[in-house]
Amino acid sequence: MSNVKSQISNSSLRIRPGGKLSGTTQVPGDKSISHRSLMLGALADGTSQVRGWLPAGDTLATLGCMRALGIDIERHDATTLTIHGRGLQGLKAPAAALDCVNAGTAMRLMAGIMAGQSFPSVLDGSEQLRRRPMRRITEPLRQMGAHIEDTDGCAPLHISPSHLRGMEYMMPVASGQVKSGILLGGLFAKGDTTVIEPGPGRDHTERMLRSMGMPVRVDGPRVTVSSGHPLSPLDVTIPGDISSAAFLLVAACLVDGSQVTLRHTGINPTRTGIVDILEAMGAQVSVEQHPQEEAGEPVADLSIGCSQLKGIDISGELIVRAIDEFPALMVAATQVDGKTVVSEAAELRVKETDRIAVMAGELRKLGADIEERPDGFAVQGPQKLHGAVVDGHDDHRVVMSLVIAGLHAEGTTTITGAHSLNDSFPGFVETLQTLGADVEWINHD
Ligand code: S3P
Repeated sequence: MSNVKSQISNSSLRIRPGGKLSGTTQVPGDKSISHRSLMLGALADGTSQVRGWLPAGDTLATLGCMRALGIDIERHDATTLTIHGRGLQGLKAPAAALDCVNAGTAMRLMAGIMAGQSFPSVLDGSEQLRRRPMRRITEPLRQMGAHIEDTDGCAPLHISPSHLRGMEYMMPVASGQVKSGILLGGLFAKGDTTVIEPGPGRDHTERMLRSMGMPVRVDGPRVTVSSGHPLSPLDVTIPGDISSAAFLLVAACLVDGSQVTLRHTGINPTRTGIVDILEAMGAQVSVEQHPQEEAGEPVADLSIGCSQLKGIDISGELIVRAIDEFPALMVAATQVDGKTVVSEAAELRVKETDRIAVMAGELRKLGADIEERPDGFAVQGPQKLHGAVVDGHDDHRVVMSLVIAGLHAEGTTTITGAHSLNDSFPGFVETLQTLGADVEWINHD
């Protein structure tokens, strides 16, 4: 993990406008599914085969944690893993704190797993991860009987052995990570564990558990698991991450003359908010669904071309279904005709960074006029952007969104601190270059 970061730690990106984006490509494997394949593969009875795994900063953190818990994981190449699962009771006490680095998903999901173990553990991460709220997962786990000490509501989390009890929990905020952390705790709890969601948080955990033979009951917003069911190993090819595809979809929509196809992309309906939003703005997205699912996940080839887009109001369930896409959508909002208003999206403030404040601040350096609101933002488009030096804030989705902005800014845009894009989309720059964009690494040490 630290090797990956240090290779590109002082890197900046230089972007110039011009040049349509065209061609066919495939984005790296889905980050959410890649994390889950490691955790559930570790808990399976037997050997799992995973292809198309995402070799990025966040998922490498989970891989390191699983190895520290005694799981033998073979990496045949960057994206192909064999995971030697040891069953639900097979994890071993780690010798040191488990380092989730920058990965909130790793920490919140593993909190559920570690709460159910017969040995103590500590979950920790980077300074950035230590600032993110963890009570949303430690509180419900405590209600299940977990012994967890947090640090003023944040990491490090100190977890001691306990006997978990199933419960029914009404989630205050729609969150795939919190829902999954509780359901994973439920695998070790006495009795049923039910989570009631206020909105459709991503359901990759439920789908993967079912594909491994575990009965998961879904009744409207209620999701229930029970303990004591062994998990069969996985044999899966992880689809491309629609949240990575989103940057290319938005870029292709906005750059004149573009036409891009993204093969083998996940289209789980809890994740396709970006497609619905772009269509509502006037884009035409063609979705060629594949006949077969992967670990219960629908897959498609997505094609999109440049369209005349208009501003829209975005709120409600679209927020959780596109939560990671709003930095890119803020950029899009500066380029479309009319006003875009995003509300009910206060969650954006507790991601890797406060993505409302950070994106608005950086886009202002490029000349944009963004109205920040406590729970979203409003932008009147179209606006002229000009090149400037901007900061990636060690947030992968901020960096990639600023690259898309740079494709529209007159002159040259330089993004400092751009290394973090490797947290979710290794090869982003090279993929854009292949599609025809003028973007390159500078100070790449
Ligand atoms: C994720 C859930 C989302 C998302 C994150 C990954 C997951 O967060 O932002 O990148 O894998 O469950 P929330 O749990 O806050 O919705």
